[in-house]
Amino acid sequence: TWTMVNIVDEQVERIRARVGGKRAICGLSGGVDSAVAGALVQRAIGDRLTCVFVDHGLLRKGEAEQVEKDFVAATGAVLKVVDAQDRFLDALRGVSDPEEKRRIIGREFIRVFEQAAREVVAEGGKDGDDVEFLVQGTLYPDVVESGGGTGAANIKSHHNVGGLPDDLRFSLVEPLRELFKDEVRRVGEELGLPSEMVWRQPFPGPGLAIRIIGDVTRERLEVLREADAIAREELSRAGLDRDIWQCPVVLLADVRSVGVQGDGRTYGHPVVLRPVSSEDAMTADWSRLPYEVLATVSNRITNEVREINRVTLDVTSKPPGTIEWE
Ligand code: XMP
Repeated sequence: TWTMVNIVDEQVERIRARVGGKRAICGLSGGVDSAVAGALVQRAIGDRLTCVFVDHGLLRKGEAEQVEKDFVAATGAVLKVVDAQDRFLDALRGVSDPEEKRRIIGREFIRVFEQAAREVVAEGGKDGDDVEFLVQGTLYPDVVESGGGTGAANIKSHHNVGGLPDDLRFSLVEPLRELFKDEVRRVGEELGLPSEMVWRQPFPGPGLAIRIIGDVTRERLEVLREADAIAREELSRAGLDRDIWQCPVVLLADVRSVGVQGDGRTYGHPVVLRPVSSEDAMTADWSRLPYEVLATVSNRITNEVREINRVTLDVTSKPPGTIEWE
């Protein structure tokens, strides 16, 4: 029978055969997929892999800390953390088109990986071989939806598939390319990753940038980060983490509406809650969350995040809506 142990063993063999004595880097996003891909390659080639965690400034609250502590503790992987916030935010300044954001983010990731690879080589001293391989946590649905699978139309360019620059100098290692999310989670458990990491909700590589409808600024990111942290906290408190697939919080940054908060009129922004249930993200339905939970999330966001004066609920399935708004 085809068990997770088989998948792990087979992939480890395949990676060893392909990467051999060469070096690789793996971009960690904080999400499940890249963590599992990194852990698999680490098992195959050990310290010849360097994991690179890019803080692009588009992360959720607490995300960087989780990678720095939990991932390293579980895998023993060599980790390099790159603070690239200015670089990404500069590149994104004034950009509101979704595909343009994705292209820019995909490109900047690669530039940062190239820089990190040069540093890895320099630090390696005399026997410093070049880094030839880039490990990515691309899944089967990412390939299909980026138009790379069976000729499906390009729905959106997942940052690590359709968003790659033409002059990429790495060979890609994508050990999860044939797997769905539930299989990836089981592989992650098999590899001993902590369950908070394995069971966390999916979070897209382009991060909060594609959950701000409009252009991306530090202020908008800060607002969305706070609202997102509240929604996640309340969904966890209600015990709903494994019932829903994920719940993006989307900031309608160019929309304003009139409200009354405290003792006065406000002219703030709405956020959209997008809770979905899904098996593999290819299709999804909106989750019928308990009204009490929705009420708590709404009250807390509008009380605690000054710039937000309205909370709305997205009741669209996929199709016709995608899960993320961009
Ligand atoms: P959509 O919005 O296409 O999302 O229905 C399907 C799933 O994929 C995630 N997603 C991404 N993940 N890079 C990623 O790593 C991306 O560019 C990307 N775009 C969407 C999304 O969160 C959902 O789980």
